[in-house]
Amino acid sequence: MSNVVVIGTQWGDEGKGKIVDLLSSKADLVVRYQGGNNAGHTLVVDGEQTICHLIPSGILHKDKKCLIGNGVVVDPEVLLEEINKLKGRGISISPDNLSISEKAHLIMPYHQAVDLAREEAKGSDKIGTTGRGIGPCYEDKVGRRGVRAIDLLEPETLEEKIRANLKEKNFFLTKLLNAEPLEFQPIFDSYSEMAEKLRPFISDVSVEIDNAIRSGKKILFEGAQGTHLDIDHGTYPFVTSSNPVSGGVCAGAGVGPDKLHHIVGIIKAYTTRVGAGPFTTELLDETGDYIQEKGAEFGATTGRRRRCGWLDLVMMKDSIRYNGLTSLAITKLDVLTGLDKLKICVAYDLDGEKIYSSPASLKKLAKCTPIYEEFPGWKEDISSARSLDQLPRTARYYLKRIEEITDVLFSLVSVGPMREQTIELMDQF
Ligand code: GDP
Ligand code: IMO
Ligand code: MG
Repeated sequence: MSNVVVIGTQWGDEGKGKIVDLLSSKADLVVRYQGGNNAGHTLVVDGEQTICHLIPSGILHKDKKCLIGNGVVVDPEVLLEEINKLKGRGISISPDNLSISEKAHLIMPYHQAVDLAREEAKGSDKIGTTGRGIGPCYEDKVGRRGVRAIDLLEPETLEEKIRANLKEKNFFLTKLLNAEPLEFQPIFDSYSEMAEKLRPFISDVSVEIDNAIRSGKKILFEGAQGTHLDIDHGTYPFVTSSNPVSGGVCAGAGVGPDKLHHIVGIIKAYTTRVGAGPFTTELLDETGDYIQEKGAEFGATTGRRRRCGWLDLVMMKDSIRYNGLTSLAITKLDVLTGLDKLKICVAYDLDGEKIYSSPASLKKLAKCTPIYEEFPGWKEDISSARSLDQLPRTARYYLKRIEEITDVLFSLVSVGPMREQTIELMDQF
C-alpha cells in the first residue's frame, strides 16, 4: 500500500500531529486537504514542541514535500508567521519542501471580523469557534465570491474581489452585527505585499501529487479537526465548515479515491471536545478533571480547557462508517493510568431503546444516555512500553475490547507525546 490518510475520529485533538510526524518518515509527500489555522497539531521531537496550524506536520523531516491542498483555507499572514517561526529554528522552508494550491481560498480580515462579531452576537448560543474566520471563508467559497491563492498573482482580480466583498461584508458587519467596517486600501496593500512572499510557493498541488504518484512516491494525507466536527456528518451546527472525513481528501487535494489505500483513524483513549455542542459521555466530576489535568487537555490553538469524558464507541462506529477506516491508532493511553475503573460507551439509551449510531436530531441526542462497559484500570507507568506485552494485562484488555466492539484492528498505540513513545503494530504504508 502506498498512500495513507490520517483522520481524526472524534472532535479533533486526537493526536493527529504526533502520528503524522511519525508516519512522515515513511512518506515522500505530506498533504493537508481541509480546514485552516483552526487546527493545532502538536509534534514533540527531541524534547522540543512544535505546533503546526497550517503547514503539514511532516515539515520537521528533511527532504519531504509538504503540500497545502485546494480544500484548505489559508490565512496568508498566519502562514508567513509559521514559515518564519520554523525558519527561526533552523528549519529551511522553500518551494522545495512547501507548496500551496493555487485554488486554495484565502482567509481575509473580514472573515475573521465576521466570525468574531457573529459569535459575540450569538451570546450563549455560540458555537465556540476558534475565531479564525474559517466558517465565513468557506461560506464565500461556496457562495462563489472567495479570493483564491492564484488571485494574489493577479493584482486586478485581487482588487476587484476585495472591493466587491467589502461592499457586502461592511453592510453585514455594521448593519447587522454592530461591528466596525473595514477599509479597502490597508487590506489590498498587505495582501499585495504578502503575495510577493508567497508567489514562489503557489502551485498546482493536484498535478504535483499526480506526478509523485506516477514516480512511485508515497503520499500521507493529514486530516484536521475530526469526523464529528465534519460539516455533513458532525454534531451540526456545532461543527467546523469543512469535510475532515476521508472523502474530503479527494475534493480537497485533487486526487481520485483509487489513490487512497489505508485510512487510519486516530482515536484518543478517552473523548475530548473544545467549544460548545453535545457530548454524551462528558464527565463533569473529578474523573473528568483528572483526565483533563493528566492529559494537559488545553486547546493547541486557542488555549481553551478541553471538556473530557469516557471513550464513546457509538461515535467511533459512525467514524468507521463515514471514513472507511482500515485501522485505528490509539493515543494517550498513558493518561488513563492511575484510574481505578474505566468505562467505554458501547450504545446509547434513547427513551428506553438501545441505539448504536448518533441521531441527527440534537434534541434526540441530548436525551441519549451512555450505556457503559466497565473495566478495571492499571497503576503501572506505561509510557516506556514499546510492545503490547509490556502493557499491564488490564490495559491490553481495554484495547482488545475496543478492537472487538469496533471490528477494526489497531495499527499503533501511543503512550506519550514523543515520537518514540509508540507501539507500532502494523506498517501503514
Ligand atoms: P491534534 O490536533 O489531533 O494533532 O492533537 P493536538 O496536538 O491538538 O493535541 C494532542 C495533544 O496530546 C498534544 O499535546 C500531543 O503532544 C499530546 N499527545 C499525543 N499523543 C500522546 C500520547 O500518547 N500521550 C500523551 N500523554 N500525550 C500525547
Ligand atoms: P485539530 O485539527 C478541536 C472546533 C472549535 C469549534 C468548532 C468550529 O487541532 O484537531 P471553527 O473555528 O472551525 O469554525 O470552530 O470546531 N474546532 C476544533 N476542535 N480541534 C480542532 O482542530 C478544531 N478546529 C475547530 O472549537 O467548536
Ligand atoms: Mg489540535
